[in-house]
Amino acid sequence: MCGIVAYIGKQQAAPIIIKGLKRLEYRGYDSAGISVLNGNLNVYKKMGKVSELESLVKDQSLKSCIGIGHTRWATHGEPNDENAHPHKSNSGNLSIIHNGIIENYATIKQELVNKGYSFKSETDTEVLVNFIENIQKERDCSLARAVRIALNSVVGAYAIVVMSKDNDNQLIAARKGSPLVVGVGKGEFFFASDATPIIEYTNEVVYLNDYEIAIVENGKLSITDLKDVEKTPYIQTIELELEAIEKGGYDHFMIKEIYEQPKSIKDCMRGRLNADENRLVIGGIREYANKLTNSDRIIINACGTSWHAGLVSEYFIEEFCRIPVEVEYASEFRYRNPIINEGDIVFAISQSGETADTLAAIDLAKSKGAIIFGLCNVVGSSISRASHEGAYTHAGPEIGVASTKAFTAQLTVMFMIALKMAYKKGTIGDSVFRNMLYELENIPQKVEKALQLNNQIEKIAAKFKDATNFLYLGRGYNFPVALEGALKLKEISYIHAEGYPAAEMKHGPIALIDEDMPVVFIATKDSGYEKIVSNIQEVKARKGQVIAIVTEGDTQIKDIADYTIEVPDTLEPLMPLISVIPLQLLAYHIAIMRGCNVDQPRNLAKSVTVE
Ligand code: G6P
Repeated sequence: MCGIVAYIGKQQAAPIIIKGLKRLEYRGYDSAGISVLNGNLNVYKKMGKVSELESLVKDQSLKSCIGIGHTRWATHGEPNDENAHPHKSNSGNLSIIHNGIIENYATIKQELVNKGYSFKSETDTEVLVNFIENIQKERDCSLARAVRIALNSVVGAYAIVVMSKDNDNQLIAARKGSPLVVGVGKGEFFFASDATPIIEYTNEVVYLNDYEIAIVENGKLSITDLKDVEKTPYIQTIELELEAIEKGGYDHFMIKEIYEQPKSIKDCMRGRLNADENRLVIGGIREYANKLTNSDRIIINACGTSWHAGLVSEYFIEEFCRIPVEVEYASEFRYRNPIINEGDIVFAISQSGETADTLAAIDLAKSKGAIIFGLCNVVGSSISRASHEGAYTHAGPEIGVASTKAFTAQLTVMFMIALKMAYKKGTIGDSVFRNMLYELENIPQKVEKALQLNNQIEKIAAKFKDATNFLYLGRGYNFPVALEGALKLKEISYIHAEGYPAAEMKHGPIALIDEDMPVVFIATKDSGYEKIVSNIQEVKARKGQVIAIVTEGDTQIKDIADYTIEVPDTLEPLMPLISVIPLQLLAYHIAIMRGCNVDQPRNLAKSVTVE
């Protein structure tokens, strides 16, 4: 949801910023802009991708060692050049980049209009920069003070960086609700929405907390809160490899990340699981482990793909631990006055760890005394920091907007947590525990095998690329996989797709079935197998075209389905880790054949930091 990058130091700022914006483009890509200070605050911005901005500035002199840049996902005002960031104040003295939403911007704007200010864009950000300017003028104060006063008056979320024409030795940044990382180099500083634009230059970073203002002035970083109380910057060393954020020979990040899954699942288990030693340790869950195991009720909050991982987790926990679980869309949970009791357990599952609704849901639960476990992929993210305990998924950076390897890592870690709890609780015995550990350890190899289906899936994709609708059906553990398969397809190919529990088909979707309707069944050999075979018959009887994901060696479904894709067998609860792979590949190939931008699908963003 918008990416921000800023630089101050001895190098040329513009190339660093443009490169950084490209790395952050997954956060938003409807327009981009840059501002550098060379005499004046020069601003260049352009609707479209960062590459459009790059072409726009290629003949400009952007010589400067200080600058700010932005890639946008529109909230206020349509994507166009004018609404793109950076925004300048009326006097031309300040320029700003902003990620987030200023909710009371209309009131502030009216006050500024009354004072004679005018606005070129429809954005809340242009209001904020003029608000800061007006405070500085009226109070005759420093820029830092004006920023502080302004931020104490605004309602909403922000990560901002402000640059002033009068001071080429200063950048001021602040955050509340939107992420912001400060990179600390030798005599140079970087600001960015995440660490990916920074790691090329330094691995020393400071994650700003909410309500903190960071000021870099004359080569020094200082941090205060909104009351101007000085804070000591906590510099952390991050372990992020540059190769992890590059395509490494693949055409797209999405396909790279699909293929990375054997490794990312292994990374997720590393140091936690050893079947030979009958060992399963989740290092991040210690102090509250007993409370978790003995809980009467567990609530899982998430959005999007992470919500689907939450649904599978519900099945794990209920089946293994016999504890009731509710899986909530965080955006609904937070607004419906949910019943949360002191000591309730709340899990937040989030790849980015920044999803605004999930963050707000756990804040709400925390305020009512719940114990929060965060399941995030991005180390140091807001949700991981707001949680009491938790576990990282360690899938490595996921850059393709459609989530793939994060999903399988989320399943892996939730499986391990549920298994550990159940073993401690005594709801599963030694031999089941050991068997599950062994089977989980074998999953990366089986995922590898499922990836070898790529060519077959590409051929099936070619047959269905022009379909306008798709149905995805599954039962039990494969029901959330059906939802995930449908989501993948609609996200990146713009084909309408619905996921349903296969048995629910009779209560509506069956009316849609005719010879033009492809129906993807996730029909591996499990406890619901016979039932799903009947559901396939029902679709065939109405001339629907069936693509079935089946267990290797299945002959029964092969006889009735139009296409079968055979995946390796595993234990029923672990099947989602394998059965989702062909669905990710199917969506990918269909989207490519339709000429879609799979890494940056229209209107979507990887990290949704607005409500
Ligand atoms: C966005 C992304 C999805 C993701 C969802 C939740 O919609 O495009 O891929 O599943 O947000 O994100 P999170 O980072 O909380 O898992």
